[in-house]
Amino acid sequence: MKEWTLSYDHWNPEEQPLREALCTLGNGLFATRGAAEEVPGNDYNYPGTYLAGGYNRLTSDVAGKKIENEDLVNWPNWLFLTFRHQEDEEWFDLDRLEVLEYLQELDLKQGVLQRKMKFQDEHDRVTSLISRRVFSMSNPHEAAIEWTMIPENWSGQIFIRSGIDGRVTNNGVERYRDLEGTHIRVEEKGPTGEDLYYLSARSIQSEIKVSMACRTRIFRREEPFVCKREEVGMEDFAGEDIAVDCEQMLPIRVEKSVALFSSRDFAISDPLGEALKQVRCSRECRIIKQRSAQAWEEIWERSDLRIEDENGHENQGIIHLHLFHLYQTVSRNSMGYDIGVPSRGWHGEAYRGHIFWDELYIFPLLNLHDPQLARSLLMYRYRRLPRARKAAVDEGYRGSMYPWQSGSNGREESQVIHLNPRSDRWIPDNTHLQRHISSAVAYNVWQYYQSTKDIEFLLTYGAEMILNVALFWSSLAEINPRRDRYEIRGVVGPDEFHTGYPGSDSQGLNNNAYTNFMAAWVLRRALEITRLLEEDTLRKLQVRVGFDQEETALWEEIASKLYIPFNEQGIIMQFEGFGELEELDWEKYRRKYGRSFRLDRILEEENDSVNRYRACKQADVLMLFYLFSSDEMMEIFSGLGYSFKPEQIVENIEYYQAIASHGSTLSRVVHSWVYARSDRSRSWDQFTEALKMDIEDVQGGTTSEGIHLGAMAGSVDLVLRGYSGMEIRDDVLWFNPRLPKQIEGIFFRVRYRSHWIRMHITHQKISIDFDKGWADPVEIGICGEKHTFQRDDHREFEL
Ligand code: BGC
Repeated sequence: MKEWTLSYDHWNPEEQPLREALCTLGNGLFATRGAAEEVPGNDYNYPGTYLAGGYNRLTSDVAGKKIENEDLVNWPNWLFLTFRHQEDEEWFDLDRLEVLEYLQELDLKQGVLQRKMKFQDEHDRVTSLISRRVFSMSNPHEAAIEWTMIPENWSGQIFIRSGIDGRVTNNGVERYRDLEGTHIRVEEKGPTGEDLYYLSARSIQSEIKVSMACRTRIFRREEPFVCKREEVGMEDFAGEDIAVDCEQMLPIRVEKSVALFSSRDFAISDPLGEALKQVRCSRECRIIKQRSAQAWEEIWERSDLRIEDENGHENQGIIHLHLFHLYQTVSRNSMGYDIGVPSRGWHGEAYRGHIFWDELYIFPLLNLHDPQLARSLLMYRYRRLPRARKAAVDEGYRGSMYPWQSGSNGREESQVIHLNPRSDRWIPDNTHLQRHISSAVAYNVWQYYQSTKDIEFLLTYGAEMILNVALFWSSLAEINPRRDRYEIRGVVGPDEFHTGYPGSDSQGLNNNAYTNFMAAWVLRRALEITRLLEEDTLRKLQVRVGFDQEETALWEEIASKLYIPFNEQGIIMQFEGFGELEELDWEKYRRKYGRSFRLDRILEEENDSVNRYRACKQADVLMLFYLFSSDEMMEIFSGLGYSFKPEQIVENIEYYQAIASHGSTLSRVVHSWVYARSDRSRSWDQFTEALKMDIEDVQGGTTSEGIHLGAMAGSVDLVLRGYSGMEIRDDVLWFNPRLPKQIEGIFFRVRYRSHWIRMHITHQKISIDFDKGWADPVEIGICGEKHTFQRDDHREFEL
């Protein structure tokens, strides 16, 4: 990994699925895996193309039941480009050739994927091929592949096959392969008679139409080269064979430009018409790359984060890789579209492209780099508010109950049974009981408001979302007269290992500390909003959401009486009864499986259940120290009538650190964050582990099914907010740097309340540079002291 380049210097088909995910190119609207264009889907090559928010539902027979799943659809393969020497020879496939040289590089700065190959076939013909690919960030409907081919020791005719391959299904995740995967049907295809080919496909149930058109041009000596072309008569495939005369050592350039439109696009007539129009006047690849690079330059200018650390370029490169995939998943091209932030990017089919609480790890970055984008993405949740309200009513509650997994229309998309690939058994899945997702939605709205002061958003949409979540919690919380405390029963916390009590038939757990704490926090924010709103607006919102003053009095009471389980040593118990669970033989499992593992699957395979043990998949209680500063936390705890002292934070961290299996990539981010105050070197260790999650596929095979966007964004945010000690509190942007000794300095820009602020932080100094904008003065707090800053200010502070 270099500062701006992810590179692989040898051909390794086994590693190809991982590389494909990590080399995905996208632009916030479409994404295509970094698969080889020359080979259609096979064991090591999976050329998936995904449309942001392009879902479809299918029913499958699973373990004797009919189950409907909603999937992120794999659309036709526009990459398709290959060649052969003779009609009776095999098509080009590195796996069948002797690979003499191979270099694959992803240029993160410009968004270009390049492969340089030299290979020899069974007739001893040696060929060099450089393939460059771009999925434009400047025009999200445009993509291109450029091949430069050099016949090293041969001359003669070759046949280049180029086209759009509609013979695809959803087949990218092994454990879903028993499920129905034919999500699309090809509706129309063909040549237009101008060397253009097109293909439209429609998803079977959701009826989204995607049209693609391509044009393939051949150049020799930098001049267009006229060749004989013939349509390929294959079903569900639109494309041509081009006969090209090659001369030894004379490079041939192949340029394939592609246009992609969908029926979800704005400002179009019909997707096919638009695709054809665009591809007819497509520019040379060089120009497409250049324009896309300009759009990337703007992104990097806003969002780059530089660290000066002991590890040379390695960590910096991974930070760039993480930002790169974040902005390939959601970018300015996504703005206005009805799309949420998927936990696995649009990079593969894992978790079916669903939207989870992982947004919680992603929005902080977006708020500080591109608040308009964050606002647009929050609307995904606002549009699904009616559905969330219906879900609450259906279960006998009020307000909004957001689904744990969300897709097209906001119904619950979590699977009811899932396959344990270790045991090959289908097991019930109760993770949908993670009601805390609704608090995450409210938290994201509030954080956005804090960093932007976008009162219009709060009044028009945000307040309604937060108030609905508050109403949900107040309808779910029940008083336990014995304790004189409110309780929330039958839920699952972030630690998905625990979904029920051992030996009990009832689902869920009681009083998950994180859920209850978050509920108290939401109720307090809702009350703050009711005080903030002017009377008339409040009255209207009361009618719309359905609450009155009596209800707010109840919120007040619940927010001061929610039950949080503690043990006698002052450790917050993850849920009621957690302390009574059995000890796990950690030594045994760590020895066998390493530092991160899916204990739930391992134990199920051993006919045991992880529900029996005090073992966590991921941070649960520790989430509180991640999301809230100690001041904020003390405030909530004291509001709840618990005396919680800062020293307890460290003790709680130690307790949960010892029983964490890090079965989710999100876990390391939180563990690093919570150590940042108390033990910087452990924080650094966890941070470097978090950085490796995807690039080294630490979870063993999951990254190839899609990157982990929460961990990617979360790891960058660890430096941005965690190590800079950035926090927005009481209308002040606080910095309280806590750089680990391994980092000499960090540099970044943030957008805060309409100012662009350039920050440089070292162990000795913090320097703050305001742009020449026009926004009102704001307060910046440095290590406890407040300072007023206005536009064009530049100041330095000794630390
Ligand atoms: C984690 C969840 C996460 C989901 C999607 C699961 O493995 O336990 O917290 O939301 O993956 O990333």
